[in-house]
Amino acid sequence: MTMTTLPEVTAGADELSIWPASTSRLPHGGLAVGGVSLAEVADRFDTPAYVLDEGEVRARCRTYRDAFPEAEVMYAAKAFLSRAMVRWVDEEGLGLDVCSAGELELAVTAGFPPERIVLHGNAKSPRDIGAALRLGVGRIVIDSASEIARLAAAVGPGGHQKVLVRVVPGISAGGHEKIRTGTDGQKFGLSLTDGSAQHAVARILGQPQLELVGLHCHIGSQITEVKPYVAALRRVVGLMARIRDAHGLVLPELDMGGGHGVAYRPGEPALDLTALARGLRGELASACAAAGLAVPRLAVEPGRAVVGPAGVALYRVLSVKHTGDRVFVAVDGGMSDNPRPALYGVRYAPRLVGRHSGAEPRTATVVGRHCEAGDVLAADVELPGDIRPGDLLAVPVAGAYHLSMASGYNMIGRPPVVAVADGAARLLVRRETLDDFRGRDVGA
Ligand code: LLP
Repeated sequence: MTMTTLPEVTAGADELSIWPASTSRLPHGGLAVGGVSLAEVADRFDTPAYVLDEGEVRARCRTYRDAFPEAEVMYAAKAFLSRAMVRWVDEEGLGLDVCSAGELELAVTAGFPPERIVLHGNAKSPRDIGAALRLGVGRIVIDSASEIARLAAAVGPGGHQKVLVRVVPGISAGGHEKIRTGTDGQKFGLSLTDGSAQHAVARILGQPQLELVGLHCHIGSQITEVKPYVAALRRVVGLMARIRDAHGLVLPELDMGGGHGVAYRPGEPALDLTALARGLRGELASACAAAGLAVPRLAVEPGRAVVGPAGVALYRVLSVKHTGDRVFVAVDGGMSDNPRPALYGVRYAPRLVGRHSGAEPRTATVVGRHCEAGDVLAADVELPGDIRPGDLLAVPVAGAYHLSMASGYNMIGRPPVVAVADGAARLLVRRETLDDFRGRDVGA
């Protein structure tokens, strides 16, 4: 593909810094990802659509393997899952973190080895537990006292299941209040401070068919600093030492969860994985040495940082409205394919693609087509002043928690996922159509 140096709409040399590494500029304002023109993807697969750069996903998996060579890296499927994604993660040597029978069965039926899967959930349904035991998942993470006896009964007297205990360390971190899970007073895990984690450990040890192999701790999501992870690790290792003292049991595994933050707009901070790996490794070594503990095998569970920056959302502009001093650019998607701005106030950096505009930039708000005023995709962003219906907008960093959180609101239908790699595009997940809505509607 030809590279050009056409003047760009949004100034700044790092404008593409948050885009997949394969992104290249094409003549006339075009952009290519994975060697495929985004305008061509839009023409061929229609909009809205998610584009996923396979090479970027694989490269990010490898970055994790390189940063954490001694640890187990489990991709958090909730960020995005499809059969192709399952295969990429498997081929790149990662494990998988799932939180429902649905994610679990999709992964296993796509060929993922169940022993490399960990099952989470603050409220696992009988179907989740049944699927986990039937398929033989490697680990189940205990999240509440009440599920211990229930799980033990489901495993049965002759059975055996490895489990971890999810510990709440009392550390506050995360990009938004709704995705902070490290402190008491939220629904996940068992508190370290009020003793419920220790209590759960004792109860698990009373169930011979459950083998307690370690502790788990996920303090939140979209975290951009190493410090809270190190502080959490120190506290959890402290609990490991107390478990050893109380029960004579040295736990061999420590899963520090995910939550690794990425930049959604140029210039925003992202978590430095090398610094994280160094911080966790160093603290693990010193805390274990101080407590006289053997160093457990570390695990991490990144979701967003593996797949988020590999995705781009494509929309077609449907209308441009000037109201008072505001400009609303309405596109053919919205909160049903990306609820994140509405839920967490996340800011995105949409960009015109597919045509060159020499018009002066103007502040505009990109909104969706849903029937509520809160259906905003990107408030107060700079777009060319001549933006008009028919234009194509691309939103980078759309690979995580977009499709997986998409809804059927207004029966618009969830967008397709198109993989791009080596100059070719292929459909991974097809668009949801009226036939899908009609097919599920079985009443008279
Ligand atoms: N492990 C556990 C136990 C988790 O609950 C999560 C995410 C992860 C790993 C992966 O976290 P990540 O590396 O992707 O941050 N819908 C929100 C994010 C919710 C995260 C839920 N748990 C968003 O769109 O920002």
